Amino acid sequence: MTTRAPFLNTPFGAYYHRDVPHEDTEMTHVGPGTPGGEYLRRFWQPVCASEELTNFPLALKIMDEELVAFRDLNGRTGLVEMHCPHRGTSLEFGLISEQGIRCCYHGWLMDVDGRILETPGEPPDSTLKDRLCHGAYPVLEHKGLVFAYMGPADKKPPFPLYDSLVGEGQPGYRQSSVTGGKHFMPCNWLQIKENSMDPAHTAFLHTIVSGRQFTDEFGIIPELDFLETPLGLVYVASRRVGENVWVRMNDFMAPNVHQVPSNSEDGKSEHPFLRPWLTQWSVPVDNYNTVNLRVRHYTDEEWARPQRPPVLTFGQSEENRTYEERQRMPSDFDAFTSIFWRMSRHGLEHLATTDRGVIMMRNLVRQGIRAVQEGRDPKELVRTNGVVRTYANDTVVRVPRASTEEADAELVRETGRRVAQEYIDNPPTLE
Ligand code: FES
Ligand SMILES: [Fe+2]
Repeated sequence: MTTRAPFLNTPFGAYYHRDVPHEDTEMTHVGPGTPGGEYLRRFWQPVCASEELTNFPLALKIMDEELVAFRDLNGRTGLVEMHCPHRGTSLEFGLISEQGIRCCYHGWLMDVDGRILETPGEPPDSTLKDRLCHGAYPVLEHKGLVFAYMGPADKKPPFPLYDSLVGEGQPGYRQSSVTGGKHFMPCNWLQIKENSMDPAHTAFLHTIVSGRQFTDEFGIIPELDFLETPLGLVYVASRRVGENVWVRMNDFMAPNVHQVPSNSEDGKSEHPFLRPWLTQWSVPVDNYNTVNLRVRHYTDEEWARPQRPPVLTFGQSEENRTYEERQRMPSDFDAFTSIFWRMSRHGLEHLATTDRGVIMMRNLVRQGIRAVQEGRDPKELVRTNGVVRTYANDTVVRVPRASTEEADAELVRETGRRVAQEYIDNPPTLE
């Protein structure tokens, strides 16, 4: 095929533009042994909601590994390789037992840590079960989600207890709740996460194209900034609202978490740091599929409403919309799942000034991947115990307008950067 023109500048030039560059395998592939997959496995990942663990085992695919999750009759949670170590029958058809899970085929019994407790049918003096283990991963449950650590045992970090998940009842915090489900996205995980560092799309996709989906003030074009945090990045979107400056900060927390402040903020009333309404993990199923798992945080007032606001907002899943509806009113889902062929080809892009956050995020992820390849921890991996500070918030401060439009834009941007940097240097603490 004709070599692709990297920067096509010929009208009617598609003929010179048909060659397709390779996938960025270092960043996007997630299976065992891949650089990106090994990086993701250094962090705790949610694999399902606690309420999905019922009387039956739950078949899962996470980072290209087939697994089964279950809760035994003693209430202990397990995440084990799908296929029985005897002759490979899937444990999704297993029997949940007092202690562990029993294969339906010949009755081998596996504990939550993979130890084989019984091999009925074997001679009584058989030591097979004492010598063999089934593959299992450590798990824990928090806020209604089941988290697993799927990396090497000697590299296991403490579970990162984000402050947004533990601060109920504190000033600026929200009462927490959890999603009742999980949402599948038919695309690579990275392009979903990149959306969280792409604030420019809010003013277009969510305002002009699909009608105003948030408060009117979201239609004000913000001054944008991006800053590093100990956990990853924040974007800072600062808007002039009357005599106030509304500073909105979104977290990207390595490797695949983001936090979003409320979309009902209007910037009209002054207030300090108000915690995010959403914490979301985008966990790869395989290279071309991802599952979003989220914790939705409610204010006390929202929590008390007879009709609590929904966990999932417009456009975060397919929502059973018809193709025509999606064409009429495309959403985040439509935007990022349709990027190239479900997996971004970075060599086909033409990054522009609004992609600064995406570029910073990719650099951060790539550095993390390379650190793991070189035997180091990713910089953002938290090795300390205790509550982990996060930064996403809405803050509204009173800052009278400058005399000219240009000077005011500068003032708004400076205010946003100052507010954000102060939070990063001195994060609001729990009382
Ligand atoms: S295949 Fe599972 S016990 Fe035989
Ligand atoms: Fe969006």
